[in-house]
Amino acid sequence: MSKIAELNEVAELKLNGQVYHLPVISGSEGEKAIDISKLRDQTGYITLDTGYKNTGATKSAITFLDGENGILHYRGYAIEDLAAKSTFIEVAYLLIYGELPNVSQLESFQRELTYHTLVHEDIKKFLDGYPSTAHPMGIVSSMFSSMPSFYPESLNPHRSSEKVNLTILRCIAKMPTLIAWAYKKSVGHPYVYPDNSRDYISNFLNMMFSTPAEEYTIDPIVVEALNVLLILHADHEQNCSTSTVRIVGSSQANLYSSIAAGISALWGPLHGGANQEVIEMLELIKLDGGDTEKWIAKAKDKNDPFRLMGFGHRVYKNFDPRARIIKAACDSVLNKLGIQDPVLEIAKRLEETALSDSYFVERKLYPNVDFYSGIIYRALGIPTEMFTVMFALGRLPGWISQWKEMREQGEPIGRPRQIYVGNNIRPYPELNKR
Ligand code: CMC
Repeated sequence: MSKIAELNEVAELKLNGQVYHLPVISGSEGEKAIDISKLRDQTGYITLDTGYKNTGATKSAITFLDGENGILHYRGYAIEDLAAKSTFIEVAYLLIYGELPNVSQLESFQRELTYHTLVHEDIKKFLDGYPSTAHPMGIVSSMFSSMPSFYPESLNPHRSSEKVNLTILRCIAKMPTLIAWAYKKSVGHPYVYPDNSRDYISNFLNMMFSTPAEEYTIDPIVVEALNVLLILHADHEQNCSTSTVRIVGSSQANLYSSIAAGISALWGPLHGGANQEVIEMLELIKLDGGDTEKWIAKAKDKNDPFRLMGFGHRVYKNFDPRARIIKAACDSVLNKLGIQDPVLEIAKRLEETALSDSYFVERKLYPNVDFYSGIIYRALGIPTEMFTVMFALGRLPGWISQWKEMREQGEPIGRPRQIYVGNNIRPYPELNKR
């Protein structure tokens, strides 16, 4: 487990004339926390922190993030190094098992993943029931909810670590099949089965884009770009969907159900759903004549519900290191593929205008991971409705590693408190007076 140090510093809380001493702890990168775990027992008071802006919910050894300095590490490795030197599967292994795999570990991990790519044939019956307009996030979340019915050994997450590991492998192996089949359903094409002679990303692309009429030709530029995008999305410590996965799992719910909940949390436009919203926003601005100043003014106007999607972040207050890598990748991928996307120009103009505008500067609002990712997905042929589900594919190893860590640490059930502001006790009205 991580290096937690109890510091000599002590926080003093003076309440109604009495002084309480609260321990101060430090993580391995020096970030500090006041430990309030005994606060209610000692004082009868709780803390109030809507949106958990200042609340550490766990001690985790998976991802380190320094929002002030734009730093992101997975298991001690810089995101820049991982994006440049690793494959997504290596990063998944790193997040879940704690170390980068050696050659034989990687071979065996890949073999296991390949073995489990098929989904149960009856899953197709569920897919058949959806209208073609169904959003893939809803479909994939439901498919995950359905999984324990097919793999009941996942229901008891304590049974054995081998069974848990089997569920982990099945999740990663089956996710591309489920996503590709959700897409095939939306376009009314026959499902393409996994091809176990292909690597993880090529197999996914083949299931997405091959048809009985024409086999999709795998372009290494597309594989490489997708690899980087998935790595950049693979984990992001205690964000909304990950916290959801951990809190659902804390009731000892199985991994599939915990991930189904995480997918639903990711779907929202303030979280993973922002990547779809960004492209829709850029298209809207283009249709409207491309006047970026006008849309920046709308984003600043407190009476206008419009927000600059892909901008701002709860923790990054300087820059999002993932966005830097994606912006550079965006230029390079579009160049290599010979694509000129007019919305890229609009995005760059928006960014330039926003970064020199006092509203955005004062609030420390910078482009986040979602600002440029959609432009790359689009260049790779991924339809807009599929963007958020691509984020889910990338985030899956992160959710799994966080769920596994939470179980291994034996964390208690997650159960925040509240300050009640409703009616006080009152007499029940007579029936004829209601
Ligand atoms: N456009 C205009 N104003 C903004 C924006 C934006 N995108 N983001 C924040 N603000 C303003 C906000 O109105 C507030 O202003 P004021 O202080 O005058 O009330 C101030 O900046 C602070 O914003 P907040 O909403 O209190 O900050 P938060 O930490 O609660 O929310 C956020 C973070 C990401 C939800 C928010 O910045 C946002 O809505 N961004 C757009 C959606 C988006 O791109 N989401 C993807 C996040 S990255 C992917 C992921 O990991 O989820």
